[in-house]
Parts: sequence; structure tokens; C-alpha cells
Amino acid sequence: RTVYVNGSYLPEEEATVSIFDRGFLFADAVYEVTSVVRGKLIDFDGHMARLRRSLGELALSSPVSDEEMLAIHRELVTRNDIDEGLIYLQVTRGSAGDRDFAFPPADTKPTLVLFTQAKKVIENPAAGTGLKVISIDDIRWGRCDIKTVQLLYPCLAKMAAKHAHVDDAWMVRDGLVTEGSSNNAYIVTSEGTIVTREKSQSILHGITRAATLRLAEEKGLKVEERGFSIEEAKNAREAFITSASLFVMPVVEIDGAAIGEGRPGELSRRLREIYIEDAL
Ligand code: PDD
Repeated sequence: RTVYVNGSYLPEEEATVSIFDRGFLFADAVYEVTSVVRGKLIDFDGHMARLRRSLGELALSSPVSDEEMLAIHRELVTRNDIDEGLIYLQVTRGSAGDRDFAFPPADTKPTLVLFTQAKKVIENPAAGTGLKVISIDDIRWGRCDIKTVQLLYPCLAKMAAKHAHVDDAWMVRDGLVTEGSSNNAYIVTSEGTIVTREKSQSILHGITRAATLRLAEEKGLKVEERGFSIEEAKNAREAFITSASLFVMPVVEIDGAAIGEGRPGELSRRLREIYIEDAL
């Protein structure tokens, strides 16, 4: 696999970053994940807009222009012959060569790393069975709207899910679901309304979320942006999640309770189809 690091395309074994890099020492870094379907980048402009926002919130500078960023993505898709999969991008604050909590001088060069991952995003077998989730306290920091690489708690949440023999964990703050470990969370009420938490600093403003809500409204479906409890979710007609890597993915069980019939819901399946159709 060919990867990109600071201006060079290299075999992955030859790509290196300094041990003093602030991404490594302090998680002083932001990232994006963009999916690739039939060689095409999905929602690329949305991911770049959010990247710029994340960078701005942390006073990080972009190492390359948007045009260059697009060129790098395309080059990696071509070099690695990616038909379906993901591209991971990370920008760190780089390093002035020592460990210091204070930011290095403003002219310090940021680190830019990108790599691809081949993965079946459309024909994902989980779409047919749906995912099972557990709930877990959301103890993350207060700026979950910034896509930082500080992902230790989501990793712990994922492991709690694994230990409970389920797929993922929905995080709960003050009695209401914020989001999944690496995805946005939704329910469908008995009236057929799609409910997902409103945008704030408590959740990542998903690019797939924005596209899904736009498509739902275009199809005349009712959308309500508000928090919901695990209790409400357990009694919902359907549940699902969205992310760049999973698109729309049905959820069929929460904390051991079957959602609806315990099978992927009608609306979740339709939204997945609509999303894929629109993306292609
Ligand atoms: N995760 N919420 C969280 C906490 C996330 O980490 C993600 C994405 C999302 C969905 O955002 P989007 O639709 O823009 O992918 C919501 C990526 C895929 C990851 O960490 O791999």
C-alpha cells in the first residue's frame, strides 16, 4: 500500500513521523474519513469543510490547499486501486523537536498523513442483519464537534461493546443519547418521525448525518432534531446510525431489548438505499 506523508508518496513501511510529533504526544491533531465508492469520493466537499472548521477551532493551519488535498486523495485512490473503501486523513501540529504543552512557534510545519483502506461499504453484510448496541456514559470532553484524534474513550466504548458481544455503544449524557462511538444515532418514532440529537458541541456534526437529513426531508419524511433517552429508543419503531464508513446502518437491539421486530426497519433500509443512490 502506498501512503502519503508530508509531500511524499511512500510504501507504508517507509513512512515515518517524529516521536516528538504533537499528534503522537498530545493528540494535538484532527482527522477526516472519506469513503470511496467505485473510485469516487463521497461527500468530499463536506469533509473538507469540516476539516477546515476543526483546524480553525484549534488554531491549526492546513499544510496544503483544498485543490492539493483533492489531488492527494485522487492519487492514493489510483495508486492503491481502491474501488470501495476509505481514505483517512490526519493533520497534526507537528513539532518543534521537544515535548512542551505550549504550542510551538507559528511557523512550525504541520504533519499531514493520508492512507487508504479497502473495505466493502455498499455490500456490508451488517446492513442485512442490523447492529446491536449497548448504552454507556458519555464522559468525553466538551468539544465533541471538533474531529480530534483524541479517541481513547470511543475505543474503550467499543471494547465495552465487544465484551458485551454487541457491535457498538451509544453514549448517554444527562439522560439523553449523544451519539455512537464513531457515528451519529437516530430513532424512528411510532409516527414515523426520524429523531436525532441536535447539533451542538456535544456531538460530531456528521457529514453523512447532514446528507441523510437532507435526503429524508426531500422525500417528505419528518425529521426532529432533539435528544432522546435510551428508554425512548427501546420503544422506538426503528433505530439506525450514520457515518462515512457505514453510511446508514440499521440498529436492531439496544441494551438487550429488540427494536421494533428486532430486524432492520423499513425506513432505515429505505434511507440506506436513498443515500447510496444519491452518493453514486
Ligand atoms: N467517525 N460521531 C462520531 C463520534 C464520529 O467519530 C463520526 C465519524 C461520526 C459520523 O460522522 P461522518 O458521517 O462525517 O462520518 C459521528 C469516523 C467515520 C471514524 O472515526 O472512523
